[in-house]
Amino acid sequence: MSTEYTLVHDANELVTGPANRAGTTGPDDSSGASPEGGDGSSGPPDDPVLETESDAAVVLEDGRVVATGPSEEILREYPAENAETAVDASGKSVLPGFVDCHTHALFAGDRSDEFEAKLRGKSYQEILAEGGGILRTVRHVREATEDELVERLREHLETMLAHGTTTVEVKSGYGLDTATELKMLSAIERAGEGQPVDVVPTFMGAHAVPEGTDADAYTDAVADDQLPAVAEQGIAEFCDVFCEADVFSVAQSRRILEAGVERGLRPKIHADEFVRLGGAALAAELSAASADHLLQSTDDDVDALLEAGVTPVLLPGTAFGLGGEYPDLAPYRERNAIPAVATDFNPNCHARSLGFAATLACVGMGMTPAEAILGITCRGAAALDREDGLGTLETGSPADLVVIDGPSYRHLPYTYDGNVVETVVKDGEVAVDGR
Ligand code: NIG
Ligand code: FE
Repeated sequence: MSTEYTLVHDANELVTGPANRAGTTGPDDSSGASPEGGDGSSGPPDDPVLETESDAAVVLEDGRVVATGPSEEILREYPAENAETAVDASGKSVLPGFVDCHTHALFAGDRSDEFEAKLRGKSYQEILAEGGGILRTVRHVREATEDELVERLREHLETMLAHGTTTVEVKSGYGLDTATELKMLSAIERAGEGQPVDVVPTFMGAHAVPEGTDADAYTDAVADDQLPAVAEQGIAEFCDVFCEADVFSVAQSRRILEAGVERGLRPKIHADEFVRLGGAALAAELSAASADHLLQSTDDDVDALLEAGVTPVLLPGTAFGLGGEYPDLAPYRERNAIPAVATDFNPNCHARSLGFAATLACVGMGMTPAEAILGITCRGAAALDREDGLGTLETGSPADLVVIDGPSYRHLPYTYDGNVVETVVKDGEVAVDGR
């Protein structure tokens, strides 16, 4: 018997993934299961959307889940004393590692004064129009060395990991010129090395229009200069655009995302956040991996996204930070779809915890705890095109899991005064040991 396995045993509850895949793919869900109990209503689902096992154990070997089931049975086949590492999860809940599919976690400088300016009545767009916001972070990032950026991001990754995030997407987009965008992507890659969190790099040269140019000229620069250099560098996996009034139009966004596709970068898009410009429709047209924010999107937009297989990503932390409205969950519920939920961690939304994002998804958007858990696990994985079982704990899934100090998954969104994440296992190894 091999002793290379990691064992988590006697869990009060093990969350393995979506129930019957319900609600995870939208209207094309072939299982026929409906999280609303089949009535297509926009109320909370009656049927469970999350598959859980009680008194359960999970075995990890060679980076994968090799067995789950009742603890007694599993322990007979995989004794704790033979395991390389055994975690006693008595009284606790075990969840798949969290997947944060939308962050701008690499930045320099400090914008805490803008937090106060917003409280004094300035809008996010006013701050940006005055050269603050994204443009201010751009100045800081251009001045920072690559090593400084690596160090800043490593600190954030450590905090994220402590809060259960085992995979995180990180965007560039505070460079807005070829050299600084390449510097950011290189820093993102380097920060990911030698620490446990999987880092997924996204090129977002089209995050804002830099000072001294206009959107048309800058669109040309992103498509013709930045993208070829980014593709040659070979780090970025996705290409994202801030498709928004006074930022990038639908036509400019299409040009950039299509140029990205030509160079092998999958599209993502910041869509319909402040104004319904048509970003969601563009995401559907281009079969983007995800469309994110979606505050102003309509039922037709949601239909188009789901039919095109685009994963909708909702960012309740951004709404919370801007003191504004939250995205409406009803169109998704009516279509048996569960959006991904991410932190959007950035200088304007200074929160790294997906548990807190889940709390806000519940309290602000009316998600059930089960929907929020799917949002930060397998739905986040879908927004990153991960189809290898990431965000689930079934046989064959990646060996990433989180043990929380609470008897059920509900304790993650339910507890919002601290961190309930106790132990984090990444790739089969204990990465955070809070026991
Ligand atoms: O997703 N909307 C654009 N980008 C970020 C904000 C970035 C910033 O303010 O630095 C977002 O919220
Ligand atoms: Fe964003």
